[in-house]
Amino acid sequence: MDEIISTLCELEASSYHLVTDKTVGRLHAPTVFDRLVGEAPTRLWVVEDGESAKSVSTVEQLAHDMVRAGIDRGGVIVAVGGGVIGNLAGLTAALLFRGVRLVHVPTTLIAAADSVASLKQAVNLPLGKNLLGCYHKPTAVLIDLGFLQTLPAAQIRSGMYEIIKNALTVATENIPLLESGLNPNAIYSDSEFAVIVKAGLLAKQKVMLVDKCERRQALAFEYGHTVGHAIELAANGRVPHGEAVGLGMIVAAKVASRLGRLKEADLELHYRLLRLNGLTFRLPAGVSVATVMALLRTDNKRGYVSARPEQVAMILLEGLGAPAGPVDRPLILVEASLIQSCIKECLVDIEDVSYDENRL
Ligand SMILES: NC(=O)c1ccc[n+]([C@@H]2O[C@H](COP(=O)([O-])OP(=O)(O)OC[C@H]3O[C@@H](n4cnc5c(N)ncnc54)[C@H](O)[C@@H]3O)[C@@H](O)[C@H]2O)c1
Ligand SMILES: [Zn+2]
Repeated sequence: MDEIISTLCELEASSYHLVTDKTVGRLHAPTVFDRLVGEAPTRLWVVEDGESAKSVSTVEQLAHDMVRAGIDRGGVIVAVGGGVIGNLAGLTAALLFRGVRLVHVPTTLIAAADSVASLKQAVNLPLGKNLLGCYHKPTAVLIDLGFLQTLPAAQIRSGMYEIIKNALTVATENIPLLESGLNPNAIYSDSEFAVIVKAGLLAKQKVMLVDKCERRQALAFEYGHTVGHAIELAANGRVPHGEAVGLGMIVAAKVASRLGRLKEADLELHYRLLRLNGLTFRLPAGVSVATVMALLRTDNKRGYVSARPEQVAMILLEGLGAPAGPVDRPLILVEASLIQSCIKECLVDIEDVSYDENRL
């Protein structure tokens, strides 16, 4: 915390604008605010929790409040929260005066180990996730691992799914660490979190160094997100982002296996890692396969490759750490009917499928 405050002060902002949500606004943001307010003009802006706040109207409200409070081009916007707050503060920082400085102080595992390393800032439209956004580079990312200890287990698992995803797609060297370290109860010490966050960030860095806008090789980070985003949207806030991605990964692995691209052993590793992180392989209650299929049409990877209406562009693996397709465009067109049958096979009927537990 001392370093967070001193690093923020070194930026010599004309004013600091902390953005947080209600939960972090109770737990951690006041600690940062109380320490900073004695040093420089500081405001704390609190938005509603959750994905539904990730809208253009919240960005407009934040920008409005900050301008009214006197922010100028020398101001610094500080995201104190999870990935939603990172995106909201990030997009506001990108747009205000066509760009003011942004600092991330992540408080969820997903934000600390994954999203802060991305330049992508976006909000949702009712028609789909992350459809409205741009790129904006943070000036600093300052992590206090102690913040992660107040996360509910579901949120820790959610972040862990992204780390599993990065290990399966681009950082296979992290697989042994995950196999030995993951636990379904999601109880981790600060030092375990340190190892995990570092592994997550290094995995991200590997690819971001060659593709900082995540439009080529780094599309691999979207593994599991095609079906995952559709499930997340359909569940309307009831399924954490990472869990939806976990479900999406298992569908993607099944699709790859049905296309003869992924070996059985690699599919089993997907099941094993996801199960170690507590995945139950079920569509959330009230979410039908038909709804998920309809939402797949709004996937924001559409247009990278020309597809027929009945095709969906997906990230698939040909092996561990080996995304299928051209290295700078790892997308494969998949028939919607195949995705539909894989969702049914993996996520709906899983309890009926005689999957050999011992083999996993
Ligand atoms: N920019 C990117 O490239 C990128 C990458 C990954 C994810 N994301 C985005 O991030 C979002 C998901 O991130 P998230 O899971 O962090 O969501 P989130 O920000 O909604 O946080 C999840 C919940 O945890 C609570 N919370 C946050 N910190 C806490 C703490 N320390 N203790 C207790 N509760 C705490 C929040 O109040 C919230 O209710 C999605 O919108 C996703 O699209 C963006
Ligand atoms: Zn994600």
